[in-house]
Amino acid sequence: MMDTPCTVVPLAGTREDDFAQCLLHGLSRPQKEIPCKYFYDEEGSRLFDAICELPEYYQTRTETALLARHAPEIARRIGPQSEIVEFGAGALKKIRLLLDVVRPRGYTPIDISGDYLMGVTRTLAAEYPGLNLRPLAADFTAALAVPPLPGAHGRAGFFPGGTIGNFRPEAAAGLLRRMRASLGGANAHCKGLLIGVDLVKDPARLHAAYNDAAGVTAAFNKNLLARANRELGADFDLDAFAHYAPYNPVARRVEMYLVAQARQSVTLRGRRFDFAAGEAVHTEDSHKYTPDSFAELAANAGWRLAEQWRDAEDLFMLAWLES
Ligand SMILES: C[S@@+](CC[C@H](N)C(=O)[O-])C[C@H]1O[C@@H](n2cnc3c(N)ncnc32)[C@H](O)[C@@H]1O
Repeated sequence: MMDTPCTVVPLAGTREDDFAQCLLHGLSRPQKEIPCKYFYDEEGSRLFDAICELPEYYQTRTETALLARHAPEIARRIGPQSEIVEFGAGALKKIRLLLDVVRPRGYTPIDISGDYLMGVTRTLAAEYPGLNLRPLAADFTAALAVPPLPGAHGRAGFFPGGTIGNFRPEAAAGLLRRMRASLGGANAHCKGLLIGVDLVKDPARLHAAYNDAAGVTAAFNKNLLARANRELGADFDLDAFAHYAPYNPVARRVEMYLVAQARQSVTLRGRRFDFAAGEAVHTEDSHKYTPDSFAELAANAGWRLAEQWRDAEDLFMLAWLES
């Protein structure tokens, strides 16, 4: 049993209409695009979980090992009886490594995949009686006013998974700035933000991670089209699009596309969209950082890189940011 019942505060930005509007807008642009946050309905969240288990996807294994190894130091930074607010919480697996050591008073997982979030929160609630759980189905790119948890000794943010890489540097700085404001900014109540950052590395390793042999990332990418068919009655032929995810070493990002395999038309909400053979729809960027370039990004957003933990191969970095 939890101390308090779960509260759910659905915010604008997660409604079906927004998906429709974004899709209509994105497919009308000269370079067609669909924002990556729409990957995540229940099916998309399940597919992302499967990606995390793939042998090629080093990110999850590496970040999980860093969290396990450095949890005591992280606990000292956060302090006991605090509140942890997690942005893009997904399956709530990584937080378990902190809950056991940090022993916070409350935990507020935020995710855009609302039904999935509620399901995994119920499982967590059964495992952690007494923890104040306040799942929030919301878009974390909005300016979120998350009310402080009564009685908590400070608040820390948690943003794992390398999700910050999905934002172009200027948008990433804006997001980190808004997160700082949501957590309390320079106020002493704000302990800091623990963030996972995927590092610049051998392009072959990056290519393999986003082009897995089992085709799970391809299915995850195509879920955007499947979701449009399910929710909006679109008529995308999934077999007529190919997953394409090259690493751009100059921009230091993996770019993800769905490429039309032949000339075709798709109907969405009564509008027709034509695709030339070989035409690409941009679906995601995943920017990679060096420790220095990430420290610079954090500084642009009003944070200071106070501590960092990296694995022996320098694949991934856990960064502790303070105001
Ligand atoms: C790359 S996954 C990381 C999941 C998990 N934190 C991890 O480390 O394994 C990104 C997560 O953020 C969520 N997400 C993506 N964009 C979001 C947004 N704009 N607002 C809220 N959640 C978002 C997705 O639903 C997904 O759970």
